[in-house]
Amino acid sequence: MKKHTVMYGTLTAIALCLPLIGTAQASPEHPVIGFSIDDLRVERWTRDREYFTAAAKELGAEVVVTSADANEQKQVNQVEDMIAKKVDAIVIVPMNSQIFASVIDEAHDAGIKVLSYDRLILNADEDAYISFDNERVGFMQAEAVLKAKPEGNYYLLGGAPTDNNAKLLREGQMKALQGAIDAGKIKVIGDQWVPEWSPTNALSIMENALTAAQNKIDAVVASNDGTAGGAIQALAAQGLAGKVPISGQDADLAAIKRVIDGTQTVTVYKPLNLIATEAAKLTVKLIKGEKVEYQTQLDNGQKKVDSILLTPIALTKDNVMKVVEDGFYTKDQVEGK
Ligand code: GAL
Repeated sequence: MKKHTVMYGTLTAIALCLPLIGTAQASPEHPVIGFSIDDLRVERWTRDREYFTAAAKELGAEVVVTSADANEQKQVNQVEDMIAKKVDAIVIVPMNSQIFASVIDEAHDAGIKVLSYDRLILNADEDAYISFDNERVGFMQAEAVLKAKPEGNYYLLGGAPTDNNAKLLREGQMKALQGAIDAGKIKVIGDQWVPEWSPTNALSIMENALTAAQNKIDAVVASNDGTAGGAIQALAAQGLAGKVPISGQDADLAAIKRVIDGTQTVTVYKPLNLIATEAAKLTVKLIKGEKVEYQTQLDNGQKKVDSILLTPIALTKDNVMKVVEDGFYTKDQVEGK
């Protein structure tokens, strides 16, 4: 009898342990983070993914990354799937800043923390927000174009109307331009938002604007490098590339080359290794319930969101090689070898 009892006892103990063997159990020591990205077809997010995953791994966390390819419903479904998989935290780059309120409540009901990454989610209860000062980015963009072209007809190419950053960028751009507008030195002859930040959309918007203005556009304030690239294609078709100052942001490799060859005036560089590493640290602290030092709070329409805002850097011909000094690109990459 004794022998059987011992045997049953041992078998029971093994059976109880089985479910833990071979499954990546989320735990505070080895948390699992879901990283939900709007669109990995946009170059900069591939770098954010690379840096964030590496930084999280250093902190003992595993990262599961998804791309919604600019499809807002797909992104909500992907976040719901992360909740079902019981991740410890979800980091979101929202395609549409307005549609995450209920899924964030679902995450909270499941004990999951939520971080807005680089784009503020509006009218929702996210736990924190980390980005660069996007109004400052917009100011830098317009300031550099205004320096290159203090007078003339200006065209404004906004970002995606679904992205709260596009609004912040525009606010900063107008702060830089308003004085020259009021003084009658520059005139804004057109202004379009670019759906999905699509370079193709930017190309067609710029083609139509040039036609409508009979090519009398003296400067373009574009809100990121992808859309600037599309607009420069339209300018080039009219022999205007390099003659019409234009802005961007993200320090895309193609944009760095355009700043060097003079067809793009400025790209605002946001050290992605910095935001990704700080976001990974912040996320792990949220999971562990550790204290986080926030610099500010931003009102997202529902609450004041604890926020970390990092400092962007304007890159023009004079300082564009900073991306090589930072190790963001190699010299060969920038020189196109
Ligand atoms: C914005 C972001 C920019 C811009 C764009 C592209 O929200 O702040 O870096 O590139 O998205 O996805």
